[in-house]
Parts: sequence; structure tokens; C-alpha cells
Amino acid sequence: MDRIRIAGGKRLNGSIPISGAKNATLPLMIASLLTDQTLILDNVPRLADVGLLQRILSNHGVDVMTGGKRPGETQYDGQTLHISAERVIDTTAPYELVSRMRASFWVIAPLLARMGEAKVSLPGGCAIGTRPVDLLIMALERLGADIDIDGGYVVARAKNGLKGGEINFPKVTVGGTHTALMAAALANGTTVIENAAREPEIKDVADCLNKMGAKINGAGSSQIVVEGVSKLNGARHRVLPDRIETGTYAMAVAMTGGDVMLENARAELLQEGLDVLAAAGLEYNETNRGLRVARNGGALKPVEVTTQPFPGFPTDLQAQLMALMTCASGTSRITETIFENRFMHVQELVRFGARIQLDGETATIEGVDKLKGAPVMATDLRASVSLVIAALAADGETMVNRVYHLDRGFERLEDKLSACGAEIERIVG
Ligand code: UD1
Repeated sequence: MDRIRIAGGKRLNGSIPISGAKNATLPLMIASLLTDQTLILDNVPRLADVGLLQRILSNHGVDVMTGGKRPGETQYDGQTLHISAERVIDTTAPYELVSRMRASFWVIAPLLARMGEAKVSLPGGCAIGTRPVDLLIMALERLGADIDIDGGYVVARAKNGLKGGEINFPKVTVGGTHTALMAAALANGTTVIENAAREPEIKDVADCLNKMGAKINGAGSSQIVVEGVSKLNGARHRVLPDRIETGTYAMAVAMTGGDVMLENARAELLQEGLDVLAAAGLEYNETNRGLRVARNGGALKPVEVTTQPFPGFPTDLQAQLMALMTCASGTSRITETIFENRFMHVQELVRFGARIQLDGETATIEGVDKLKGAPVMATDLRASVSLVIAALAADGETMVNRVYHLDRGFERLEDKLSACGAEIERIVG
């Protein structure tokens, strides 16, 4: 298993290209199941999760072709995928595949909407706690699906097609909103989704679906109206930049000090996160190349933050912010309201000498002057990158074990950081 070795204490200076968003790429790839024509996606990040979803889709009969490099492109430019679900040969998504990536459960919506049936394994628990799909099932039922749970599988049927309906989510859910959108796009009649997730990735997927011929209004707000159509077409769509990768590198710069251009990043995708970082002492300004972030001298200031659905502070940046606050001059408080048990990075951060107290969903962090490098273990995607941020500022050497979690969501992390002066290397094997 690969490990990452980091010798801390270097400032970051230079530029980091921001990749296409993982959390838009996955549902966009899944949306290809809605049409028998080719969907072309540009700016697709090279991530383990993208490869895994490719395998899951090919199990349904989907062909995925990766476009070749064009002149002038570097290894940091996203890839182009040509995805064709001309013939869906299997409407079952088996446990062995779904259990490895929760978002793959979302194939249930396009399979059901287009083929009238789907059998998809329940995703099961994962390291960040129970992650139910009850609201996704509720959404499909509201559109007329018959649902049975049988042998660990969700069996969904709509022999005469789905029908538009009203879906009122009692809780904001990104996966629920993606599922509702994809199902409603091919339903007969109008669907109104209330309390929809407002994440930019929802809007990106809706924009792509509209290019494919869907009639979706209001994506990005909490009420989305979908007028169903009988058929969708192929289209070409460019994945929006990854706001979580953006926020992560912004925090790395806040942690080490320095001055970095986050190429292609867009401030409006991360406003609350940037406001928090500005309060902590990061300077930023948006240019036509991307987002420039800098911290030159001055202590890091403590902050109080509660994770919220978009436009609030994202849960996917909570671990990274906690790493940053371990070195603030004072006491910070971070409350996690989206996922239970999403504090597994705490015990690893403590190994660097961080002072963190947990009380239910709130962590209290007493800033220390210096962290000290240590061997640590990555437990999930966001937790692992928080350990990298801590290591970049720590005295001495850190070895991050089990980095396959990082490869699920961060493309060429060690290359991007070492190009800015970090002493970081992957040890393969
Ligand atoms: C997506 C993101 C993930 C992010 C999360 C919250 C992708 C691929 N993943 O995950 O990175 O951390 O949004 O921003 O886009 N819930 C239920 N019942 C359900 C579904 C969800 O109770 O049927 C709960 C969850 O347990 C959680 C909350 O709703 O407490 C939000 O989850 P949700 O927004 O659905 O997360 P995901 O779509 O899985």
C-alpha cells in the first residue's frame, strides 16, 4: 500500500491547477444512463472513484472511452470521457461494486426512469457512519415507483414509466436531489422538488441534463421544477471546478504561509469557506486565472464554524479546517451537523501534538505553537487530506499510511504540492 512522506515547514509558493469536481463528475457519468446517445464530459478528474464508476457503468453495458490528449495539454488537464449507454444490458448493480462507492447507488434513478426497473444493492455503512438511502427511496416512490427491499437489494419497478409528483425532502440531501432530478427528467408530467440541495454540483448536473433535452428550472435554489420529457439526447458538458479541492489547498496555504494561484478555481463556489479562511487570516482575490490565496506573517486566528448544506460551510472541508485550527492562536470550535462520526481525524491530529476535545458533535481546538511530525493513518477521504495539511506545517517528518483514500478524491496531490515547494513524496508499495 502506498504511503506519503512529508517533511514539514516549507512555505507554499506557485500555482496549483484545480481539477474538475469529483462530486459533479460521478452523477454526470451516471446521467449517461438516461440516453441511448453519447454523453461527452470534459474536465473529468483522474481519480480512483471515476475509474470505479466506469467499471460499475460497464457492468450495465455502458461504453466509456477516454479521449486522447490534445496538443498543448499537460498532465493536469482533465480528461474527456465519451460515455455511451446505447444498450443497457443489465439493470442490476451488485453489492461487490456498490459497497465500494456509495454514490453508485444513484444509478437506481436513471435505470428505473429509462428501463422501468432497477435492482441496486443497499450501500451499507461506511467509515463516516450510517449513510441511509431512505430519502432517495421516498423520492422514487413519490414518482410512482414500487419499491421492495429484498436480500440487501432495493428492487424498484415502474412498468408504465414514472409519473411527475411532489417531492418534499424533510432533510437536505445531495444524493436525494440528484436521484429525484434524474428520475423526474424522464417521468410523465411535472415534478416539484422542495427543500432541494443547492450545492453547485446539483446545478452543474441540471445544466447538463438540460443540454440533453431535459426541462429543469430552479436548480441551485431550494425549489426545482422538472417537466418530464419522453427522451433525452447526447450532449457535451464541461465539469465545473472542484470547490473542495480549492478549499483544501487554500487551507494548506493558510497553514504554511505563502502565496499560491489556484488555477481555474471560482470564489462563488466556496464563499462561506473563504469567509471563514479570511477570518482566520488568509488573503484571497479572484482573478481571471483563478483564485489567488496568500498568508504572509501574522498569527492564524481561531474561528467558530458549524457545517451546513450549501451555501453554508461544507462538511467536506471540516477535517481540513480542524487541522488548520490546531495552530491558531486561541480556541476554535467546529460543530459537525451533516454526518455523525465524522471526527476520525481527531485522534490522528492528536498524534501531531494537537489539543482537541470532543463533546458530541462539537470539537474544541486549543491552538498550539507547533505540531510535530508523526506516523499517522488515513481513515477516509477528507480525514486523510487533513493529515497532509497538518504534516505540511509540522516540525520533522510525517508518514501518512493508507493513502488510497486520498487517491479517491485528490488528483496528483503530491505533485501539485511539491510543485509549490512542499517536501512531499509518494512511497509506492
Ligand atoms: C454528498 C457528497 C459528499 C458530501 C455530502 C454532504 C457526493 C458524491 N458526495 O454525499 O461528499 O459530504 O453530499 O454535502 O456528492 N440522509 C438521510 N437519508 C437519505 C440520504 C441522506 O438521512 O436517504 C442524510 C445523511 O445521513 C446526511 C445528510 O442526509 O446526514 C446529507 O447527506 P447527503 O447530502 O445525501 O450526502 P451524499 O449525497 O451521500
